[in-house]
Amino acid sequence: MIKIAPSILSADFANLERDIKKIETADYVHVDVMDGVFVPNISIGIPVLQSIRKVTDMFLDVHLMITEPVRYVEQFCDAGADLVTVHVESDTEENTHKAIDAIHAKGKKAGIVLKPKTPAEAVLPFLDKVELILVMTVEPGFGGQKFMADMMPKVTAIRKLIDEKNPACELEVDGGVAPDTCKTCIDAGANVLVAGSAVYKAADIPARIVELRG
Ligand code: DX5
Ligand code: ZN
Repeated sequence: MIKIAPSILSADFANLERDIKKIETADYVHVDVMDGVFVPNISIGIPVLQSIRKVTDMFLDVHLMITEPVRYVEQFCDAGADLVTVHVESDTEENTHKAIDAIHAKGKKAGIVLKPKTPAEAVLPFLDKVELILVMTVEPGFGGQKFMADMMPKVTAIRKLIDEKNPACELEVDGGVAPDTCKTCIDAGANVLVAGSAVYKAADIPARIVELRG
């Protein structure tokens, strides 16, 4: 069963409650947190996540694009995240382990994220302890970019590692996922698809969510 995680980066931030209701037939709400340092853009943070938590029971998938996320993961858990993902490039391996452990200690799911230039092997130190691995299919920082089909061999390589070593782990892709690219991602082995512009620009959002399930 393929899960769809619409990214609210493409929602109207002045009408977030309304725009989250529009995606209630999806599986996760994908929340992109950017600090202007790890990525060249600034989005939303802890107070906004707290407000979102108050208006929805949906599963909140929080993608941290911030430097040294270990400093903040507990606060994101307390603010209402169900899953917190951290980039392997954003800190040392030791601190990434600490971040994952801190998320688990809060009773939440933890995941790691790989930027396009980061190889599949980067998941190995964390593979047995995470609930989700996210492979970026654009350079993180902005919605509406072109899908990088050349990431598919990496998705397939990580799918193989997951099946061998941690079959319960989910495999998510993020960036440029749309009706013309979703099947490629599913065939490569992804089971959770993030989509921002493809969902929020659709005239019929529930129909688009069905379409993205492949
Ligand atoms: C990019 C974000 C994505 C983004 C996806 O840095 O992590 O989640 O919102 O947007 P689309 O689907 O428009 O590429
Ligand atoms: Zn994201």
